[in-house]
Amino acid sequence: TAPDFKALTAHAKENGFIYQSSEIYDGLAAAYDYGPNGVLLKNNLKEYWWKSMVQLHDNIVGIDASIFMHPKTWKASGHVDAFNDPLVDNKDSQKRYRADVLVEDHIDKIEGKLNKELTKARKRFGEAFDEAEYRRTNANVLRYQGQMDDVAGRLATAMTDGDMDALRQLIEDLGISEPDTGSKNWTEVRQFNLMFSTQLGNIAGEEGKLYLRPETAQGIFVNFTNVQKTTRQKLPFGIAQIGKAFRNEIVARQFIFRMREFEQMEMQFFIAPGTQQDWYAKWKEARLKWHLALHPQDKLRFHDHDNLAHYADAAVDIQFDFPFGFKELEGIHSRTDFDLGAHQELSGKKLQYFDPETKESYVPYVVETSIGADRLFLATLTHALRDEQVPGQDDPNNTRTVLALHPALAPTKAAIMPLKRNDERLVAMAKDIFDDLRFQFEVQYDDTGSIGKLYRRQDAVGTPFCITVDFDSLEDGTVTVRDRDTLEQVRVKKEELAGMIGPRVDM
Ligand code: GAP
Repeated sequence: TAPDFKALTAHAKENGFIYQSSEIYDGLAAAYDYGPNGVLLKNNLKEYWWKSMVQLHDNIVGIDASIFMHPKTWKASGHVDAFNDPLVDNKDSQKRYRADVLVEDHIDKIEGKLNKELTKARKRFGEAFDEAEYRRTNANVLRYQGQMDDVAGRLATAMTDGDMDALRQLIEDLGISEPDTGSKNWTEVRQFNLMFSTQLGNIAGEEGKLYLRPETAQGIFVNFTNVQKTTRQKLPFGIAQIGKAFRNEIVARQFIFRMREFEQMEMQFFIAPGTQQDWYAKWKEARLKWHLALHPQDKLRFHDHDNLAHYADAAVDIQFDFPFGFKELEGIHSRTDFDLGAHQELSGKKLQYFDPETKESYVPYVVETSIGADRLFLATLTHALRDEQVPGQDDPNNTRTVLALHPALAPTKAAIMPLKRNDERLVAMAKDIFDDLRFQFEVQYDDTGSIGKLYRRQDAVGTPFCITVDFDSLEDGTVTVRDRDTLEQVRVKKEELAGMIGPRVDM
């Protein structure tokens, strides 16, 4: 079984994956630190993305752009004017909420009621339950579905039109109350810009105002000509980047799902105008396939955007079934020539491509794929962490907690332990093996507990192999290799360890 969300966050902390930022000062909301195991897992996820996007594509290259950019960047990109969230305060509690999230939570509640109806019906009809037929005919289900469609429709219209009054009216009509206090005493809804700003050292006032980038994409757009010229890429081609982004999120909850400082892995794919539908469909499919190599199919789904961002003419999310429901993990956006066109206009510099075949110059169109490294991390933990009956044991009470990560993603590939920590010969041999293997892949030497305890600790952080040095090892040079998933143990010559484990933990 998968542990609940609370157990997952506790596990992440206790095992050195994620800590609250500045915890000794009671923490900073929506900021998190990756611990020793967390940074290894996150690096592996980033490497997996980079390899499949850059290394395995002839026509995708990487860059690493600066977080600070010329302030005009954000004027051209539309972020100064349009990168807003609708904000509403509760007058009694003085707490701030995102108006659209309040409405979405309300929709989730109706969906909860609808699902309850379905669960009841499933129990009642058992094998004979025909869900499609039931959805068409059951009065309660129809009513809830109708309510959901109605509210979602009104929300989408208000957001697309930027109509804050309509959003305020919707909150009132639905009778939405504050989660903690039940108060319905709301202020007007107003737009709140999500960009963090800071000041250049030597320039005072508005002139010196700098923003922390809210997406990595713009560092790619402004470098389009640089990269195209220096790599002599022909369209279509892509530029990929991994880096930090910052957003002053109003709703900062759900652990590393929504942070104020986070990491994006983005790829902007430059194409000829008129080919965007094709490329949008191709990247949509390619990205889902990538996720399917990591996560089971029933944990993933597409979700078309009801309200498009200011730069997009089509957009879809790949959603993941997080412990708090299906939510966005990755976005695929058809951004047209919006960004390059706007930067060309404001900078006065040509951001065009000369097509050697048609002899024409044009501003390329863009399809982007954008995934949060932290969300991918959370999805990976969600799906890998489980409490299970110990394999091969009959007693159902004999359980263990295991992080069933793909070996290529596991922070540590193998842990090496002496059977007895106070036997010098065992310790020396284990350390020799450790010193040898550390050049091949990430390994750990551990003699801080009994073997049983060490095994459990390694299971909890996802180490696929445990290598134990015992008294037979001193005689014949073989060691025990224990498999995390099957718990099978085999004897292996110590010289053969790298050859046996290496290929199984390789990306
Ligand atoms: N360049 C397009 C762009 O930034 P987005 O949908 O706003 O699009 C892309 O963000 C991805 O970045 C999301 O799918 C999500 O994985 C991640 N992301 C966005 N905001 C985040 C936040 N506050 N905390 C963590 N990850 C976030």
